[in-house]
Amino acid sequence: MSQIGKEIERASKIIAEGGVVAFPTETVYGLGADALNPKAVAKIFSYKERPTFDPLIVHISTLEQLKIVLKRVDDNLLLLANKFWPGPLTIVTKKSDNIPDIVTSGLDTVGVRMPSNPIALKFIEACATPIAAPSANKFGKISPTLASHVRKELPDIDMVIDGGGCEVGIESTVIALDSDGFHILREGAITFEELQKVLPSVAPKNDQQPLAPGMLKSHYSPRKPLFIADSYELDEIEKQIVELKHGGKCVAFISFTGIAPKEASVTHYLSKNADLKEAALNLFRILHLLEDDSEVDIMVAEEVRGEGLAKAIMDRLERASYHHTL
Ligand code: TXA
Ligand code: MG
Repeated sequence: MSQIGKEIERASKIIAEGGVVAFPTETVYGLGADALNPKAVAKIFSYKERPTFDPLIVHISTLEQLKIVLKRVDDNLLLLANKFWPGPLTIVTKKSDNIPDIVTSGLDTVGVRMPSNPIALKFIEACATPIAAPSANKFGKISPTLASHVRKELPDIDMVIDGGGCEVGIESTVIALDSDGFHILREGAITFEELQKVLPSVAPKNDQQPLAPGMLKSHYSPRKPLFIADSYELDEIEKQIVELKHGGKCVAFISFTGIAPKEASVTHYLSKNADLKEAALNLFRILHLLEDDSEVDIMVAEEVRGEGLAKAIMDRLERASYHHTL
């Protein structure tokens, strides 16, 4: 058996015994437990220090498992599942009685997704049960896209399956199914435009729409201040960095278009040419890197402009920089 095969076997035993295991998905690493075992799921909340009002996503490896997780499997759900699964789309709809309240924070709906990462799929298959998993970080902190990020944040968990870097780098899009369409609860790797081609939206996300539980203004927070540059002009950005450097602070810049302000001590690139897929892939990795760099005091990120994935990236940056305005 391959090394990874052995690891998956060991991981599935831990899950069967009611333990928790971190595993790679194409979006970010998840912290998994048997979704049908409330005591195991409680451990996720405790390791993450996550409030119990924030529901978990249930991960499946076959469409068959939908019958275990959901009250009913309707046509619109299958339309979306056939197009986007396995992949980074979470669909929220009525749950079955098999799913314990702790998974859904007492809601009568559950978020379900089939990840596309082959290790994730093999792991869920080996567990032979749906796997409840949030991102494998402390609540409100930066999501992990490498096994080392998980070990740093959650050193006490039973096991981390190391699958290398995640291919997408930001979380799944979360949508709620309505009687005749869908609405977005969390922006993510699949864009509104892509979804709407398959199923018309009931209402595009707007400020009136209630957010998904757990979607707090402050989230994805690095353990040092992050600011979003308040201008697109390099000259203006240089001035803002000079102000932040006051008192000898070391400022790192996070570039999206390739600009590198000379006042910044160091520049990291989400992308060098505003490529959104590349920026999504690099976002959490760079935030972790700068969080861990003891030389860096403050981070300044260039605004990520555009539609689609740009919105999902800006959503993360804005929550990560909440409390810090220039
Ligand atoms: O890509 C992802 O979605 C990753 C990987 C591991 O699958 N998971 C992830 O989980 O980002 P988490 O727990 O960090 O975020 C899940 C969010 C919750 O905070 C909540 O906003 C929403 O999904 N959610 C889950 N169940 C829900 C429900 N029943 N109703 C509304 N929103 C729900
Ligand atoms: Mg999370």
